Amino acid sequence: MDNDDPIPVDEMTEVEACAELVGLAETIAWHDRLYHEQDQPEITDAEYDALRRRNQAIEARFPQLVLPDGPSFRVGAEPAKGFRKVSHAVPMMSLENAFSPDDVDEFMAGIRNFILEIRDPAAPVAVVAEPKIDGLSCSLRYERGRLVAGTTRGNGTEGEDVTANVKTIADVPQALSGSGWPAVLEVRGEVYMSDEDFLHLNDRQAAEGGKPFANPRNAAAGSLRQLDPSITARRPLCFFAYAWGEISGPFARTQREARRKLAEWGFALNEPAIRLEVSSEDKGALDRYYMDIQEKRSSLGFSIDGIVIKIDRLDWQDRLGFISRSPRWAVAWKFPPEQAFTVIEKIEIQIGRTGKATPVANLSPISVGGVLVSRATLHNEDEIARKDIREGDTVIVQRAGDVIPQVAGVVLEKRPSESSPFAFPAHCPVCGSMLAREEGEAGTYCTGGLVCEAQAKERLKHFVARDAFDIEGLGEKNIELFFDRGLIRTPPEIFTFEDRDRLSDQPLATWKGWKEKSARNLFDSINKARTVSLARFIYALGIPQVGEATARLLARRYLTAARWRQGMEDASVPGSEERQHLLSIEGVGESMAGDLAAFFAEPHNQQVLDRLTGSRDGGEPLVSVVDFEPPAAVSPIAGKTVVFTGTLEMMSRSEAKARAEKLGAHVSGSVSKKTDYVVVGADAGSKEKNARELGVAILTEKAWLELAGGVD
Ligand code: IVH
Repeated sequence: MDNDDPIPVDEMTEVEACAELVGLAETIAWHDRLYHEQDQPEITDAEYDALRRRNQAIEARFPQLVLPDGPSFRVGAEPAKGFRKVSHAVPMMSLENAFSPDDVDEFMAGIRNFILEIRDPAAPVAVVAEPKIDGLSCSLRYERGRLVAGTTRGNGTEGEDVTANVKTIADVPQALSGSGWPAVLEVRGEVYMSDEDFLHLNDRQAAEGGKPFANPRNAAAGSLRQLDPSITARRPLCFFAYAWGEISGPFARTQREARRKLAEWGFALNEPAIRLEVSSEDKGALDRYYMDIQEKRSSLGFSIDGIVIKIDRLDWQDRLGFISRSPRWAVAWKFPPEQAFTVIEKIEIQIGRTGKATPVANLSPISVGGVLVSRATLHNEDEIARKDIREGDTVIVQRAGDVIPQVAGVVLEKRPSESSPFAFPAHCPVCGSMLAREEGEAGTYCTGGLVCEAQAKERLKHFVARDAFDIEGLGEKNIELFFDRGLIRTPPEIFTFEDRDRLSDQPLATWKGWKEKSARNLFDSINKARTVSLARFIYALGIPQVGEATARLLARRYLTAARWRQGMEDASVPGSEERQHLLSIEGVGESMAGDLAAFFAEPHNQQVLDRLTGSRDGGEPLVSVVDFEPPAAVSPIAGKTVVFTGTLEMMSRSEAKARAEKLGAHVSGSVSKKTDYVVVGADAGSKEKNARELGVAILTEKAWLELAGGVD
């Protein structure tokens, strides 16, 4: 559990940012899959939101690093197998989150900045606010007033056909009531389960020997996404309508009017909703509504996780449009992360792959925001001392911000009288070697190196992990098992396992819990992993400081495994030409070069490399490392710094900025040597002059639009 405090975004280097973005993309995709496809989230929404926010903050500072298939361009997860896939004519979006009144002010300021008519903060802007239901979104298609299709969100562009299932939901009208509905109308809303129904369902599940659902949202998702609609029919699902997708013609001018029509046509709406005028004169009304709903939260009878604020005027919604995965005209103001009190039973030291000793609190298990928590990281020795965290203490546990639960504070009044401050151990709990801490460093490390089984196991786990060799079926438990039996102690032994197993008198298939088939599956996935990209290969070796981003940079620079290895050996000599070449990679400093040199100076590591990629004296390789192929550029303006000046004619300044940022450019307010383009409209002033003096490229609005891909 190597979990240092996150680096503040404005202090990050580009390499750190790249590393984290790659990591976040993987983590978010993983949690998306758990949530949307398996209905089994491992983390709370607050925690998930924190991941997305961090991703966004890093992307905002380093737009050139935005991954084309990264989280900001994806919503949800791929549609599950088993249901017919349906494309959404109008994509199903997600919502931006706000966590504080300041965030909401920022949202409103953004709206004012976009729509010139309401620039003046005193001008009232009408918004509709309603509870944010915690279920799963669904699109219901009506043609001539008849329900013809029900579709889940899926990845936002393509969802699953759950028509037969939605038809079993009492709240979903089979035919629209009243009149005046457009011939084609896609009603969007949330399928959810009431708290009471959820408890009953779980009781029933328990009685039938089934697995209980973690929370009402998972119960709703699991119930809707049943291949057999008769099972859905037995589940008490409900539906609230709050938006629409494809429509053959407009049916309202405001959100409020749209809500009224939806109600007339037979839909239940998220209540209690409110329409407010927001202005600098009256900023309190939204806050009051938020507090009010938060107070009512537990008595509504269904789960909500915040409120949604929408700009009332639909023509403004149209103009505001979308930003990557969410509308610019709405925001979800979330309730704060949930906390809980529990007791620290014991503080343990966990040894990581690099020997880092992380203190972890074993807690009396407690439910925090619907998820059972039994461990929390305490980060390091200083953190324990700073908060004076002791065994036996009652603490506040919080799940937010990081993937691992945190201890937010100690309840001193409940401290047992006989307690004493936690003494950080002097020796590794696994191998008994000394634990050492360098001057000025926060981390403590086990000095056991290869002797320490904990480190050896962690390295193996890292080697087979999803971002590295990605060997399915060789998870942490199996690594422990094979390691303890002495069968896999180093990476090459993974790839010779099958051959050795064939000669063994106790082959894997005869072990307890294993069968011919499961053993075969494991060997098949090991064989599948024999081909690996150079970046993954470098990353898998687990060299200290060499994370995914650095591994990619190294792969990009050296292109083949052989050249990389030779380069690293040559660069081991400080001051050598190759060392300079290595240091010229942005983000590779002396300290990392030192770690790389130390890795290659270790004969054991050389042996591992020899065995994996074939020894230089002709030994057979166990794996095949694919040469690096540079990815294609995303957009010619991605990563460029752009300044707009003067009055643009084709679109508002905010719109122009929005478009530039969408394409990965960084929009700045002032011209400097770092500016790539200055786009000049009518009556441009000093900025154009500055640009000329500094020799920065000057573009007309038209030239800019050509570069940015024309007008939609
Ligand atoms: S409006 C274009 N209103 O929250 C998207 N969404 O976290 C318009 N949600 O994807 C969505 N209650 O599934 C809207 N009152 C509400 C909502 C709501 C729940 C869901 C919806 C959305 C998700 C974003």
